[in-house]
Order: sequence, then structure tokens, then C-alpha cells
Amino acid sequence: MNFYQAKKYLSYWFFAKYKNGHGIHSPLVYDLLTNIIEDFTPFYCFEEIEQYRRTLLQNNKTITVTDYGAGSKVNDSNKRKISHIAKYSLTKPKYAQLLFRLVNYFKPNNILELGTSLGLTTVYLALPNSKTKVYTLEGCPEIAKIAGATHFELNAINIDMYVGKFQDVLPNLLTEIKTVDFAFVDGNHSYKATIENYNLLKNYSNNSSIFIFDDIYWSEAMTQAWNEIKADNSITLSIDLFQFGIVFFMKDFKKQNFRIKF
Ligand SMILES: C[S@@+](CC[C@H](N)C(=O)[O-])C[C@H]1O[C@@H](n2cnc3c(N)ncnc32)[C@H](O)[C@@H]1O
Repeated sequence: MNFYQAKKYLSYWFFAKYKNGHGIHSPLVYDLLTNIIEDFTPFYCFEEIEQYRRTLLQNNKTITVTDYGAGSKVNDSNKRKISHIAKYSLTKPKYAQLLFRLVNYFKPNNILELGTSLGLTTVYLALPNSKTKVYTLEGCPEIAKIAGATHFELNAINIDMYVGKFQDVLPNLLTEIKTVDFAFVDGNHSYKATIENYNLLKNYSNNSSIFIFDDIYWSEAMTQAWNEIKADNSITLSIDLFQFGIVFFMKDFKKQNFRIKF
């Protein structure tokens, strides 16, 4: 954590509330909080996925990384050990497992992930329901190769991975799939890319779409992007969990923003 992230985390920890659903009047948000966000009961596949993470964390093979994102805060070289990527670039189990529970609960028909990396969150998104189609995009071919093996080894058969820059792949893919029920945006952590991706994706949202933005306090620019997204007129419910910002588009919902201790 750098100074900005630590400062933001302290403020989040002091001011976030609604633990155990106290003070929440919306039945949907209460349900979301008590039955999904705070229900840490493990699912059968979590241990298997986490065992796979441990093998990635011990994999000392070096690969050449093509970086189309905002870069790494811990490494400037384009040579990276798989163990380093597994340690620094992947969503931690607590949050990855929340993705699983959200998909398991809301049952989206399709899911779009921007930023596959080694493929672990893709598996968490895919395993709740083999009938859900998961489209995942990764720019770096060498990383994508490892992700393909992750998906295969963990028997996630409902994943279509696209290798290429989001800017090149996304417009055609969106035209093809027509609507996005669930999006996990975990690619380029810059203000410009986050806002551009949001503006593009929202054209394909529907009344029940859920979009999740990762690392909303990674930098001041990311926080600014998050503040603009949650203020957008299309968004009626936003939930700030510090690591994740979650937004909903339900038209019949009176706009509310929550910061929830997670
Ligand atoms: C933070 S990692 C994704 C982590 C993964 N979702 C997980 O938690 O397991 C971000 C990935 O997005 C890819 N990426 C970033 N910007 C991109 C872009 N503009 N086009 C394609 N891929 C991009 C990077 O190569 C990197 O592997």
C-alpha cells in the first residue's frame, strides 16, 4: 500500500458502516449485504482454486509481459516471474470469492471480464453456473497462455478468452453479445481507460446489469473515475467495498450510494 492508498483505507475503515445490515432500509441492499457480501460460507470449489493459486505463487518461470495497462507499482521490467504476477496482480481470495457469490446469487446469463491475467478470477466467475458464458479479455499473449491452462485445469468450460487490446477486441465482441449482464473491470487502472470502458459498457447494460470496478482507490485518478461512475445518471445503486466498487442500473430504484465495511 502506498501513502494514498493507506490514507484512503483509514478513512474507509473509519467511515464505512452497515455491518450486519443495521440501518439499511432497502430490502435488496439488506439481502445483498447479509446473504452475499457478509456470508463467508465456503463453496466446494474454493479450496481447489486456492490450491491452484499456491502452485502459481511457487512458479518461478519467467515470461515476457506485454503491458497495456497502467503498469505495475512494483516492477518496471517486461520480464516477470509467474510467482510475481500471482502475488501482485491477482484479486485476493476474499474478493474473488465475493465475485463467485454475486454470480451465484444474481445468475447472469453472460459475464464480461476485462483483465484475465492468470485466469483465477475468470474461474471464480465461471464455476457457479456452467450455463453462464464468461467472456474474458487479456492483452498479453504469454499471460493468456497461462490463463488458458488455469481454466482447463480447474474445469471451467464456459469461458471464451480473447487475446488482444481491449480497445481492439471489445467493440466487436459487444456488438456480438448485445448486452452485458455482469462485468468485472480489472484491466487498465487509469482514469481514462476506466471511464472509456464504463461509457462503452453502459451502452450494453440492461436493467439488471451489475458492473464491478477493481482497485477504485489504487490512485487518485482511479478514485476520481469511481466517483464519476457512481454519480452517473444511469447508476441507481453503488456499493463501495474499498477494493471493489459495485454499480447497479435498476431504473425503479431511488439512487443510493453505500460504503460497506467488508
Ligand atoms: C490486474 S490484472 C487482472 C487480474 C485478474 N482479474 C485476477 O484478479 O485474477 C490486469 C490484466 O489486464 C491486462 N490488461 C490491462 N490493460 C489492458 C488492455 N488495454 N488491453 C488488454 N489487456 C489489458 C494486463 O495484461 C493484466 O494481465
